[in-house]
Amino acid sequence: MSVAARRDEALAAIFASAKVIPVLTIERVADAVPLARALVAGGVRVLEVTLRTPVAVDAATAIIAEVPDAVVGIGTILNPDDLARTETLGARFGISPGATPDLLEAAAASHLPFAPGIATASELMTVLAHGFQLAKFFPAEQSGGIKALRALAGPFPQVRFCPTGGIGEANAPAWLAEPNVVAVGGSWLCPAPDIRAGNWAGITAMCQRTMKMLQSR
Ligand code: 3PG
Repeated sequence: MSVAARRDEALAAIFASAKVIPVLTIERVADAVPLARALVAGGVRVLEVTLRTPVAVDAATAIIAEVPDAVVGIGTILNPDDLARTETLGARFGISPGATPDLLEAAAASHLPFAPGIATASELMTVLAHGFQLAKFFPAEQSGGIKALRALAGPFPQVRFCPTGGIGEANAPAWLAEPNVVAVGGSWLCPAPDIRAGNWAGITAMCQRTMKMLQSR
């Protein structure tokens, strides 16, 4: 198996084990570990810590060190420097909302399981040319939703997706029922007001409800 295929398979295994990946925006580093523990307690182990706040790297580092049951990836990777930071801090995977040539070249030279982001056929073709066959479909609902994803499955039957953007408890099952969807991502399991208020029990309860609902299907 090629390096590219191994990388995709490793990512597909992580995503398939998760089904649902919370997209975390952590504003205070002190929230990182209790938030991760709350998610894991609710059965949600694969976490995407986005590089959207100044404390994101410290937050991810703390979760990796203190919540061994969490599988931590880094999201909002925008350039090769972000990718290098992701590797250095020991994250298990990386996700980007997009796919610039610079970033794809750096990711193709790395062993880190990585999902570039696409919303169009041309972007997907660029991603494929760099050896990636598992992509984030972003922003999923806003880019045409399930109909758009089905249309992409025609010319690109080999590609698997993790859609994110506009996905929540109500529409997650429909996305997950698509044969080319390995997992869905979204911020709905970790609302900013709950994080700010330290409502860890509420986050755990929401995760438990979502996971139960998905298991019953
Ligand atoms: C992402 O980066 O995946 C999105 O910000 C998640 O979108 P959502 O907030 O609509 O779930």
